[in-house]
Formats: sequence, C-alpha cells, structure tokens
Amino acid sequence: MYTGESKAAHVKSVFSQIAERYDVMNSVLSFYQHKLWRRFAMRQMRLQAGDTALDVACGTGDWTLSLAQTVGADGRVTGIDFCAPMLEVAKRKLGDRGLLRGGRVRLLEGDAMNLPFADATFDAATIGFALRNVPDIRTVLKEMTRVVRPGGQVVSLELSKPEGRLFRSVYYLYFNRILPLVGALAVGKRAPYAWLPESLVDFPNRLGLEQLFQEAGLVNVRSWPLTGGIAALHIGYKPVTPPQAADAPVHGPAGGVGPSQD
Ligand SMILES: C[S@@+](CC[C@H](N)C(=O)[O-])C[C@H]1O[C@@H](n2cnc3c(N)ncnc32)[C@H](O)[C@@H]1O
Repeated sequence: MYTGESKAAHVKSVFSQIAERYDVMNSVLSFYQHKLWRRFAMRQMRLQAGDTALDVACGTGDWTLSLAQTVGADGRVTGIDFCAPMLEVAKRKLGDRGLLRGGRVRLLEGDAMNLPFADATFDAATIGFALRNVPDIRTVLKEMTRVVRPGGQVVSLELSKPEGRLFRSVYYLYFNRILPLVGALAVGKRAPYAWLPESLVDFPNRLGLEQLFQEAGLVNVRSWPLTGGIAALHIGYKPVTPPQAADAPVHGPAGGVGPSQD
C-alpha cells in the first residue's frame, strides 16, 4: 500500500500516463454516470453568478468547466492539480471555450495538501474523484475549509462504497475485476487502472467521510449516495462564527452557519 510521499508519486505517475484518455475512460467505465453525478453536484451547490470557486485536483477540468459556466463572466474559478499532463488537457478544454481569457478561469500546478491561497479566498471549494488519491484526507479537507470564506462550502464528489449487500457484490465484481482489465486494454498498461480499486480500499464509506468533514470544522454537513452508493456527494459549510469554547456562555441562537440544505 502507498502512503505519504510514495502515494503522491504513484498517483502523479498514474495520471501522467492516462491524461489523454482520462475523459473517455471516465465515461466508458462509469457508463456515463459521472456526468449525471456532476450535474447533481452542481444543482446541490446552488452557486450564484459572480461567485468564486476553487476546484482542487481539477485534473482535465470537467468540474472546473461546469463551475465556470455557472458563475458566469463575473465569477472567477481556479483549478489546481499537481499533475502537469492532466492540466494540459484542462487548458485545451477550457481554452477552446474561451474561458482562460480575462481571468475567468486560472489553472495552476500545485498540491492539494498545501493550497497556495490566503484564508477565506473563495465562496466554494470542490474536489472531484480525488480525495481517494491524496496522502491525507484530513489535511486536504482542512486546507479546503481554510481557503473558503465563512459561510462558504466545501464539496466532494467521490467514489464510495455501495450500501446494499447484493448490489455491492455484483458491483465489486465489476469494479475489482472487469474494470482494471478494460482499463489495461485501453491504455496498454496494467498499473493505472489497477490503482482505481486499490485507492478505494482504505477510503471511508459515506458516513465516515461525513465525519471527516465535521472534524475539518465544517457544519451542516450532508451527503447523498449516488447510483446505489457507488459514488457520494458531500457538502459542508464553514461556520460564519468560530466555534465557541464548551464552557463559554451562549448568547441567543447558535446562528452563523452556512445555509441549510434541502
Ligand atoms: C481521478 S482524477 C479527478 C480529476 C477531476 N477532479 C475530475 O473530476 O475528473 C484525480 C486528480 O487528482 C489529482 N491529485 C491527486 N492528488 C493530488 C494532490 N495531492 N494535489 C493536487 N492534485 C492531486 C491527480 O493529479 C488527478 O488529476
């Protein structure tokens, strides 16, 4: 099993090898479900025109693109990823749509574990299909929480662990056995798509990830299982007022958290 720096190096190597085929393979291997999940995530986020968003581990820029289209010409979106070949694809994709002009979207090379932004810079920070890949989930969630403004949202869309027993056994047959074979045939190497099931082994289930969102200091945390729980969306809000010490007197309602979701 990879940990710490060896995990980061392995992940960088995996995505460097598959960058040019990543988008197609995503659609094939998820039976286009990832597009529906991404749309669902955007709806739940309820971003406004003019908002600012950070897409952490943006890869080839699919979520960055949706964010940019939603916040419009007055909004600003930054995508950051540590894998240069993935960013190259993102630059082409967003550049072709004119979104890199006028500073609407910036794409930067950088590490999710140490985000190069001041506190409270963004209205929202997203991470798509990447929390599984980082050396330390807690550090990344804390970094994302740090860089959103009070009341801002931290959002993860990620593969998860199906909740129904029967569906889980059928799905794991596909995910652990068939998917790595199809991936190996498509890219001509075994390692990149062998990583996909490996990366889920130690990853928390949906409720476990909710707990990590709370530990990062986020409130009103909610999660949604998607397609029988093979993926999950998590959203949490940075408190408007810092948490009070347990023995501090309470004045009025414990207000000051981001919007509650329904
Ligand atoms: C499965 S891809 C997801 C890309 C994109 N977010 C999406 O939704 O399609 C995972 C991405 O996470 C990036 N990544 C993994 N660990 C990272 C880290 N510590 N810092 C920055 N990027 C990282 C990889 O380079 C890769 O582009």
